[in-house]
Amino acid sequence: SGKKIIIAIDGKSSCGKSTMAKQLARELGYVYVDSGAMYRAITLYFLRNNVDITEGSQVKDALEEIELDFRLNEQRGEVEIFLNDENVEYLIREMIVAEKVSEVAALEAVRNFAVNQQQKMGKLKGVIMDGRDIGTVVFPHAELKLFLTADNAVRVERRFRELYQKNPNITIEEVAHNIEMRDYIDANREISPLRKADDAIEINNTHLTQEEQLHKALELANGLLK
Ligand code: CDP
Ligand code: CDP
Repeated sequence: SGKKIIIAIDGKSSCGKSTMAKQLARELGYVYVDSGAMYRAITLYFLRNNVDITEGSQVKDALEEIELDFRLNEQRGEVEIFLNDENVEYLIREMIVAEKVSEVAALEAVRNFAVNQQQKMGKLKGVIMDGRDIGTVVFPHAELKLFLTADNAVRVERRFRELYQKNPNITIEEVAHNIEMRDYIDANREISPLRKADDAIEINNTHLTQEEQLHKALELANGLLK
């Protein structure tokens, strides 16, 4: 049918959200939006420009200089994020950004900036967005809300394997510490803390492969699209 919905996927760091969201988008012919990439790109800009995040006026001025957009890389068949016309899809995954992003994402001005743009991207439906507050704040009326969970040790191991491929100097302790710190800040901040929406369906993928978690999500989506 021609029916299009919004799918919101939330959960802690490295639980498999973006993996599921990308594959689901491919299956359904939907647009995937990585909301975390927006917070990471804003953080990269703040780091490069020495923005003091305790100074509200500096944050406000900086946000006025930031233009974010997602563009399709035809070769990879995936969207990549651009910060003021520069492709920063890879730079934003570095540890230096991961170390600061949760503090930046806790700021009200930053959240307003990002959520505004995210809600505009959802206007046409046919969108899958992953993050921390998608089912609770960005799209409280999303037709399908998924909340992914996985054991802490498994999440750390998954993210470590990913980062180690790019930087063999990284240690598992460093990754574990970063994930623990971000989870704490993300779940305890005042504005839009990470939590499962009441109507979200929880999927624990500790023991699920990527194919198995995709299958579960597809069944739920197809049930709504019938
Ligand atoms: O987006 P999020 O931070 O929640 O996690 P992700 O980047 O999708 O997944 C983190 C890593 O876990 C990736 O390298 C995935 O390939 C891997 N993963 C896995 O091994 N098994 C799953 N069921 C889901 C993800
Ligand atoms: O890849 P991973 O799941 O570890 O993180 P991410 O999805 O790239 O998000 C990076 C950070 O952005 C999170 O740790 C949050 O601090 C923030 N974030 C947020 O506050 N709200 C969202 N909707 C998405 C990300």
